[in-house]
Amino acid sequence: MKDLLEAARRVRRRAWAPYSGFSVGAALRTAGGRIHVGCNIENAAHPEGLCAEAAAIAAMVAAGERRIREILVLGGAEPCAPCGGCRQKIAEFAPPEARIHMAGTGGVVETATLAELLPRAFALASSGNDGKGEDAAARIRARAPGWRGGVALLLGSGLGAIAEALAEPVRIPYAELEGFPRPTVAGHAGEVVIGTLEEVPLLCLSGRVHLYEGKGAAAVLPMIRTLRDLDCRLLIVTNAVGSLRPDLGPGSLLLVRDHINFQGRNPLLGLADAEGPPFLDLSTVYDEAAAAVLAAAAARAGVPLEAGTYLATLGPCFETPAEIRAFRVLGADVVGMSLVPEAIAARHFGLRVAALAIVTNPAAGLAPGPLSHAETLAVGRAAAERLLALLRVALPVLAGRSPARRRDGPAGSPTAPPGG
Ligand code: HPA
Repeated sequence: MKDLLEAARRVRRRAWAPYSGFSVGAALRTAGGRIHVGCNIENAAHPEGLCAEAAAIAAMVAAGERRIREILVLGGAEPCAPCGGCRQKIAEFAPPEARIHMAGTGGVVETATLAELLPRAFALASSGNDGKGEDAAARIRARAPGWRGGVALLLGSGLGAIAEALAEPVRIPYAELEGFPRPTVAGHAGEVVIGTLEEVPLLCLSGRVHLYEGKGAAAVLPMIRTLRDLDCRLLIVTNAVGSLRPDLGPGSLLLVRDHINFQGRNPLLGLADAEGPPFLDLSTVYDEAAAAVLAAAAARAGVPLEAGTYLATLGPCFETPAEIRAFRVLGADVVGMSLVPEAIAARHFGLRVAALAIVTNPAAGLAPGPLSHAETLAVGRAAAERLLALLRVALPVLAGRSPARRRDGPAGSPTAPPGG
């Protein structure tokens, strides 16, 4: 069934659902073992549109086949059941024992036989298809029809100003997007902003969910999955950190080359889906080509950029001085309370990842006085300008529009475009 799910997931990206905002992909296996796929297409008379299952059946008939062995339907976050009309169409080509798999992008799959499903009302009570399953990616595409995929930027505490710099911005509050977090922490706006920076399309996520908000590590998955569905091939994550290194003072920028997960949590825990490998390889979480582009861009923009290892804690407390001394021994350069769940989720969904950390304070015990979130926000805002200068140079290169060139070196630093 994994192959059906993957086929449905791929075709679902081609769905056109500007009216309902509910994209559906269907993949069926014929008695001969071939797979045919279809996605839903809405027209201005949208209830008259074409269902994904009907499109898959049409593809099967066009290929000269007439027997369905099983069919999988993939809708929004919750499992999606075929509508009454499609059940009738399936019944024309499938025996009563044919299996209907109802899948959600959240990874849940429910299976029933056609005989079980046919007499029922529109949706199985247990299918969760109660009309709430609008699809965040479809909604974003409907609001920003010019978006063709590219680079996404996740903005950490106090960095919302970067989204303000986008030309022709389209703003979509997280509250309108199913599965997106409702930020509860000051400094996180909670909106998607799509526009251009240096004429490069950019999707900003202004606001994130932190583990310390108590919603579980998997809370990051819908947002990152949506990036994949929007054909974002590179995710640049930013966040505020405390520094363990005396040479990295407040306001410094650090390119994250690797991380230590001290959160005791993993967003993929219990995730038995077919959207990524079961045991994700984290040998290279942070994309080396993208990191090289960012380093070269920083040099060109005259923005000092160090590189190092990030250690993630659960929070919400800042660390103790003893913990910071221990983390230093472990090899950490900076410490923070985010980034890792998003980076793991993005690798799971096949996105490339880069991370830029903003040092907002010396870590606990390394400077006199207590740590505060207000300090984090204030320093973050001040650093946003330098980060923006760096991104203005890096983005055209990351998007494959201009060559990377170090100020102090030869042209031709790695320029692999995202997804390359
Ligand atoms: N520790 C953890 N998270 C942080 C810090 C810190 O010192 N500064 C900003 N985020």
